Amino acid sequence: MQLNTQKENRYISLKQINQHLLHLRAGRPKDIEKELEVIQSHLNNKSLKNTKEKFTFIDLFAGIGGMRLGFECAGGKCVMSSEIDKKALATYLVNFDEYIPEQHQDITKISELEIPNHDVLVAGFPCQAFSVAGERKGFQDTRGTLFFDIQRILSFKKPKAFLLENVKGLLNHDHGKTYKTIIDTLEKKLNYKVFSKVLNTMEYGNIPQTRERIYIVGFSNDFYKPNMNFSFPNPVKLNTSIEDCLEKNQIDQSLYYKKYRMHSKLEEEMLQTNTVYQWRRKYVRENKSNVCPTLTANMGTGGHNVPLIREKTTRQIRKLSPRECANFQGFPKNFYIPKFMAKSCLYKQFGNSVSVPVIKILAQSIEKILTTKT
Ligand SMILES: C[S@@+](CC[C@H](N)C(=O)[O-])C[C@H]1O[C@@H](n2cnc3c(N)ncnc32)[C@H](O)[C@@H]1O
Repeated sequence: MQLNTQKENRYISLKQINQHLLHLRAGRPKDIEKELEVIQSHLNNKSLKNTKEKFTFIDLFAGIGGMRLGFECAGGKCVMSSEIDKKALATYLVNFDEYIPEQHQDITKISELEIPNHDVLVAGFPCQAFSVAGERKGFQDTRGTLFFDIQRILSFKKPKAFLLENVKGLLNHDHGKTYKTIIDTLEKKLNYKVFSKVLNTMEYGNIPQTRERIYIVGFSNDFYKPNMNFSFPNPVKLNTSIEDCLEKNQIDQSLYYKKYRMHSKLEEEMLQTNTVYQWRRKYVRENKSNVCPTLTANMGTGGHNVPLIREKTTRQIRKLSPRECANFQGFPKNFYIPKFMAKSCLYKQFGNSVSVPVIKILAQSIEKILTTKT
């Protein structure tokens, strides 16, 4: 039996949204209550999509839907999403008007029989296991890893294409063995034609953030013809600046650093106003290339990797706001950032996410192949 796809859960009522948010423990009930009307009007105002849907996709490890936004821009229709983190589910809910049902939250628990047919499998799978910062544990056998869940779904559903995204460190993790296992599995066991490339957001997304990620694109050999000639998108000229990503409105006072112990050190070292600095527990690092350093999932906690700026007008030092982090990841202005949610969760969500414009141009390149006349 096929489980409900999100289609049936669309356009849920405000009462249901409230219940889901409470169930997810996404914020304090009275804060959620206060924000419900704003959420409703946000969802009502969301322009109805009139782009013709050209292909279907599933969004695994969906986070807050960064991959989904990129694929929808390229004409994709999302037919199923999976995400385990309750707070990310809440942000997803207030933006896509969809509650990912309990049975679809943990990918390891979803039987491949329950997954709807789709053209493209999209997965920004967690990087912790491979990250250069993490424990350097490799794998020769994919069982017991989240990649294995991607493998079993590809093997059973055989979609025409996939896009996988991960940290650049995946390439040389365990002396390249981890990456080789992944590519061998995709090519030899699953019979896909595989292309991969490291792209930096500042070179491909027209956003001033340096963020290098490996993108692995595959097409089923049963579908892919030699004349299809897939190629990665061309670089895009960077014509936005740090200034363009900063909020012009009044900034939440809690983001200012005056009250902190390290303030005098920051005062001495953070001299530029057109730079995003990063606080690294004991010292501050300046990014000299006039772009924002890579935003990370831990930037909201523990005082590590915290992105800081010195304001041009007031010359005060403060942390980037969650909205500014969203801007540095290329999220659209109408992406709703819930106020009821703790800021530390929002920083994690945007740090964990993808740069939407990079996904959009990748999705367009994939769509071109899917719609090639043979
Ligand atoms: C790198 S993030 C992906 C972010 C996403 N692509 C986006 O654009 O926001 C990886 C996500 O995988 C989720 N995840 C981890 N284990 C999972 C599991 N067993 N089932 C479903 N999702 C899982 C994490 O909660 C996290 O949100």
